[in-house]
Amino acid sequence: MKVLSVASEIAPLVKTGGLADVVGALPAAIRAQGVDMRTLVPGYPVILKALKGGVQVMTEGNLFGGPVQVLLGEAVGHKLYVLDASHLFWRDGGPYAAPDGYEWWDNAERFAALSWIAARLAHESDQKGWKPDVVQAHDWQGGFAPVYMQRLGASHDTGSVMTIHNIAYTGSVGADAMRDLRLPWEGYNAGGFEFYGRISALKAGIAYADKVNTVSPTYARELTTPEFGMGFDGTLAHKGGDFSGILNGIDVDVWNPATDPHIETYKVLRGKLKARAALVAEMGLAEASGPLCVVVSRLTEQKGLDLLLAALPGLLARGGQLALLGSGDPWLEGQFREAAARHPGHVAVRIGYDEALSHRLIAGGDAILVPSRFEPCGLTQLYGLRYGTVPVVAMTGGLADTVIPLTVATRIAGVATGLLHAPGNAAALSEALGTLCDVWANPGLYQQMQRNAMKHPVGWDVSAAEYAALFKEAAKTP
Ligand code: ADP
Ligand code: GLC
Repeated sequence: MKVLSVASEIAPLVKTGGLADVVGALPAAIRAQGVDMRTLVPGYPVILKALKGGVQVMTEGNLFGGPVQVLLGEAVGHKLYVLDASHLFWRDGGPYAAPDGYEWWDNAERFAALSWIAARLAHESDQKGWKPDVVQAHDWQGGFAPVYMQRLGASHDTGSVMTIHNIAYTGSVGADAMRDLRLPWEGYNAGGFEFYGRISALKAGIAYADKVNTVSPTYARELTTPEFGMGFDGTLAHKGGDFSGILNGIDVDVWNPATDPHIETYKVLRGKLKARAALVAEMGLAEASGPLCVVVSRLTEQKGLDLLLAALPGLLARGGQLALLGSGDPWLEGQFREAAARHPGHVAVRIGYDEALSHRLIAGGDAILVPSRFEPCGLTQLYGLRYGTVPVVAMTGGLADTVIPLTVATRIAGVATGLLHAPGNAAALSEALGTLCDVWANPGLYQQMQRNAMKHPVGWDVSAAEYAALFKEAAKTP
């Protein structure tokens, strides 16, 4: 089975969130299932610089305004097709935005180009004869691939899977872009890629792909409801059995407290104290009588961290502490900076993106907070489990699928790994933080939960097999 994964990010080369981790981890995880997965990514400068042994396998004279070539090579263990298109990707800044933070004006063309090349690889095979059985498109950036596959005639013998990591990013553009984007007018309707009078690349992927999946079973169910579906609920419900949820895993080698190069390593819970002490010193925290809570997150509406600001005084009053690493919304950044200034020694905030510090926080914390309004899967609560850092999470999406909440039943059975609270509700979060402080005051119970957490399977084994089965269903050739 040959699968071409199409994505705008891949860890550790280009990452803005969990998408990159999943795209980076899946090829190795699924190899054991007999799947040869290669990844098509944009030729950002950082990718072209990292690419080793790149050979040209495809060209096109004019793809949305300039000549392009496709290189096949390797970078940090990944087998990559790289779309080398200097007019689209050879720029300073992030994958989606300029250094000033504004989104690139031509994002629709940039990722349509990526999707077009995916369809061509499916249709023609590369010059070395590799041709995928299935194309897996990640998020809106790959969404047009199934449309182009149909347009080029590739969908007869090549299957397609649309993987939704986050429904909030629709990849919309005005309908006047139709011709420039090489889209067929017959697709511009409610059953196709039309979305509130515009074109949506995500809707295109959902409508045209043979199979659609998202990154947890609970989020898959939520997405078919108006409350979470953000306008896609009807389309997704219509997919019926062709829409499913497969839980993300994490790279258990990168996230391993016994070998993690960023921390004071530990194999058993007792050893975690050293990592905690190091974090307390690094963040300038004082002695306290409550749990040290950590957050590693993008600061966006989705993540519900405004609710944490509201619940923070209650946590601090109980002797709890907060150490947060994140960046994003300037208002949230400012609010957390202010909270740190108001409570020195008890609230520590680092604004920015820092991979190494994220490991030290997750290793050193007593609890990790993920109070999201919605969360397709979430990875940091999985890191928390692996490091014995008790997750306190909103009962939504993948958070609900990965944490065994402390209840009367799980307490008696001795299997709880964390705490759950209603999403989007500061009072519920406050109450959960109160419970956390109560449990923290009972070291026997707290340590049992930490040990349970460390034993919880968070790797890719089960989900890689589910992806392999999904690709098999999507493939057109037996
Ligand atoms: P999302 O993809 O919605 O941001 P996930 O929990 O799936 O949420 O993935 C987020 C990923 O990004 C995790 O690997 C997390 O550790 C990482 N991350 C988020 N913010 C930061 C940051 N400021 N510094 C370092 N890593 C971060
Ligand atoms: C998205 C989601 C997150 C998920 C990640 C990887 O960014 O917000 O919940 O874990 O994709 O699938």
